Amino acid sequence: MDQLLQQIEEYKKEIGQFTNGDIKAVEEFRIKWLGTKGIVKSLMGEMRNIPNDRKKEFGQVLNDFKALVENKFEELKEGSRIEETAAGAGLDLSLPGDPLPLGSRHPVSLMRNRIVSIFQRLGFALADGPEIEDDWHNFTALNMPEFHPARDMQDTFYVQQNPDWLLRTHTSNVQIREMEKGKLPIRGIYPGRVYRNETVSARSHCFFHQVEGLYIDENVSFADLKQTLYFFVKEMYGTEVKVRFRPSFFPFTEPSAEMDISCTLCKGEGCSVCKHTGWLEILGCGMVHPNVLQNCRIDPNKYTGFAFGMGIERPALLKYGINDIRLFSENDVRFLQQFASAI
Ligand code: PHE
Repeated sequence: MDQLLQQIEEYKKEIGQFTNGDIKAVEEFRIKWLGTKGIVKSLMGEMRNIPNDRKKEFGQVLNDFKALVENKFEELKEGSRIEETAAGAGLDLSLPGDPLPLGSRHPVSLMRNRIVSIFQRLGFALADGPEIEDDWHNFTALNMPEFHPARDMQDTFYVQQNPDWLLRTHTSNVQIREMEKGKLPIRGIYPGRVYRNETVSARSHCFFHQVEGLYIDENVSFADLKQTLYFFVKEMYGTEVKVRFRPSFFPFTEPSAEMDISCTLCKGEGCSVCKHTGWLEILGCGMVHPNVLQNCRIDPNKYTGFAFGMGIERPALLKYGINDIRLFSENDVRFLQQFASAI
């Protein structure tokens, strides 16, 4: 019995050090443990030397051990068969795998997601619209009829084939498309790419990104607009940041305003980024003009609403300390890789 237990111990040690998949070692294992002159057989032979009253106990332990070794052998055989097939196909399964190249989010996408998710938490629903747009949705319905001087605020790319088509100059076209659907109330957030015929430089580009917000319901007031945007600023830039609204003009909102926040770099003291004013311009906003509601067959006597629009590139430049807007569209992986762990 002692001899048997000792062999079991040796077996366990051997199995612990076994190299998987080695065909020669599997055969050596079989001969040593299960062969005609192997250890299991010789232990079987010992059976006759065991006194009768201990035979049962010895037999049981030995049988269990035999089953264990046989099962192990089948398992090792299977393992080496897989290795053999792989080797036949010229594969070495012990080589480390090729790592898959992992991409990362683009900084503009990161910033868009941050902005959008804040408004989603307030119940604004995500939607988008076309980048190739017609004159109605980009201009006319937004209270900018043909020859309206305000069209000159945004230098437009037109599509040669059709003078009615253009590359949208702002995401406000989505306002119109959502209002035209005729389902009220509306509370939406609309990110997307826009195009303007501007000279490309470190500070401006001929395409960039905006996020548009729209809220239309009964009794929506300018106070609601301010509260929504205060919440946004707090979530986005923290509670320390100051906010101010300046009266402004957009043909599609009345009254209109621009919102500034105190410069996040110099904390309002004045630096080159805020051009020594202490303030950064963040967005344009206002109460949706009654003409715009009417253009979308919404009754301005029953419904009111607010809209706002902000750029994505500028906040992204600020947050990630980037000094050239062109980097966003050059797709240099050395630039993009720096945002692998950014949020
Ligand atoms: N569309 C305006 C722009 O691109 C921003 C804006 C949107 C202003 C909505 C007011 C309301 O400058």
